[in-house]
Amino acid sequence: MSATQWIDGARETSEYAAAGMSVLGYVDWDGSDASNERVLMRAPLINRDRIIRDQYVRIEDPLGSRSGFLGRIVAGPFFSHKGASTRSAFATLGRGLSGEIGILAEIELQGEMVDGTTRASKSRPASRATVQALNAGEVADLLGFSGDMVLGAISGQDDIWFRLQSKNKGVLPRNVGIFGTVGSGKSNTSQVVIEEAAANGWAVVVLDVEGEYTAMDAPTTDQALLKNLAQFDRTPAGLKDFHVFHPVSCTSEAEAAEAFTLRLADFESSVIAELLQATIAERNALFDCIEHLESRARNKLSTKESESLGVLLDPSPEAKVPFTLRALKERASERASRSNEFFDYTALATKLMWLVQSGAFDQPNMRSLDPQKMLTPGRVSVIDVSVANDVIKNLATADLLRKMFAYKAAHEDSPPTLLVIEEAHSFISREKAQTMQATMQMLRNVARRGRKRWLSLAFVSQQPGHLPPEIFELCNTRFVHTLRSTHNLDVLMATAGDISKEMWSRCPLLGAGEAIVTSPQLKRPAVVTMRPAMSQRRFTR
Ligand SMILES: Nc1ncnc2c1ncn2[C@@H]1O[C@H](COP(=O)(O)OP(=O)(O)OP(=O)(O)O)[C@@H](O)[C@H]1O
Ligand SMILES: [Mg+2]
Repeated sequence: MSATQWIDGARETSEYAAAGMSVLGYVDWDGSDASNERVLMRAPLINRDRIIRDQYVRIEDPLGSRSGFLGRIVAGPFFSHKGASTRSAFATLGRGLSGEIGILAEIELQGEMVDGTTRASKSRPASRATVQALNAGEVADLLGFSGDMVLGAISGQDDIWFRLQSKNKGVLPRNVGIFGTVGSGKSNTSQVVIEEAAANGWAVVVLDVEGEYTAMDAPTTDQALLKNLAQFDRTPAGLKDFHVFHPVSCTSEAEAAEAFTLRLADFESSVIAELLQATIAERNALFDCIEHLESRARNKLSTKESESLGVLLDPSPEAKVPFTLRALKERASERASRSNEFFDYTALATKLMWLVQSGAFDQPNMRSLDPQKMLTPGRVSVIDVSVANDVIKNLATADLLRKMFAYKAAHEDSPPTLLVIEEAHSFISREKAQTMQATMQMLRNVARRGRKRWLSLAFVSQQPGHLPPEIFELCNTRFVHTLRSTHNLDVLMATAGDISKEMWSRCPLLGAGEAIVTSPQLKRPAVVTMRPAMSQRRFTR
């Protein structure tokens, strides 16, 4: 292409500008270091204030048959001094270009625009193609940032809100992962997701290992973030329909928290065996005692009552559970004299005594977890296990998952449900996956099969590398805050093919609240700044 043609291009562009299109500049000639992903833009100095990194642009190629390219300014502005031909081009663009100075900026090509969406491109825009700034609405539509949940804004472009759709089967129902190092903004992000999901009719249940979420009924008191919140048309506000529960064996700082008991019979025999870290002989003895008590209970009940699902989902103290911890312990003690190398009732009785002493199981006159109560649209229920040990945390998780899953299966009209599990790595890990198999199985089950029932999981973790891979891979919408450990980054990079190396290289540098987000709803991964939560967080450390 000759310089004259380039100048003609400039003239056409000034006509676009006259027609109200916001032309920033032109694609410059390719140099010897040209790459598939990038083009260089040359612009007049007058556009300096509009040439900022992260700005999204549309590149119209008047010579090509393609409808245009989506790009993002990733480097610059650089200030350049150029020869005669370019000078005349800028002269055509006019408007106060001073001397021979122009602006150069590098644009990363994000794809080709076809019918209002972007798709991967096998080509590049030609030199002299015009570069136009995109407005907030256009970018949001092109990138897929539309929706009823207002979560934040594109980093560097406060006017482009980052939203996700609460009713899109590809978003919450396909599970969420919130990852990042200490203090990177994970809890704030999960609070925002909780607020937005609840505001859009989801029932949310939070398994709270630190007791941080137990004050979400109060408005945030973080004065520093008020302005930031106002940007999203939000003001500090507590959740209205909010409840806190805690296992009876430990306490909660929330004043109105309600205690619940775990019921041993609600767990599968294999979970109880795992819980007791039973030897084979203890396990045999355990299964024998359970079998005995269950068959006795079956004989006492009518067939209808013996439907175990009904009992499982009945949280009242009168529920006809087939056995209690005390009954099991008594049975094991009774059989103690029959212990042999295959059935160790004596050791079983001792281990069951530990469970009795924990005070967590089968407390008389106390309700167990009540899925029906929690599954109300817009209600947020926090299970505060902050004072509980790993075993109780695990059991409360397993209990919750099983009951939610069973309840949702039996009640198709129940609201979409999000279960938030913070710091899952602390009690479910690759290393522990063997001994925690039953809990794991339940998690896998919900993560895989919950989608059809609108039962979703959100994992919050500072150690995604420690999460079992099969769980981790099921988190399809991911918020990756700053992560510095290469181990954790490697795991994420291995399972998120669509994030460029460049974007990953930003990950260790992200500020508090900033995250790389990928989601089936988004057409491309994006770097976003989450909004601050409207509700309060209780700081426990
Ligand atoms: N979206 C945000 N906008 C502004 N500031 C934020 C944002 N998110 C987090 N912060 C700031 O960073 C701090 C740490 O955030 P947060 O507690 O959510 O991180 P975390 O990753 O959960 O930390 P921890 O590892 O300790 O649990 C907050 O107290 C707040 O000051
Ligand atoms: Mg946190």
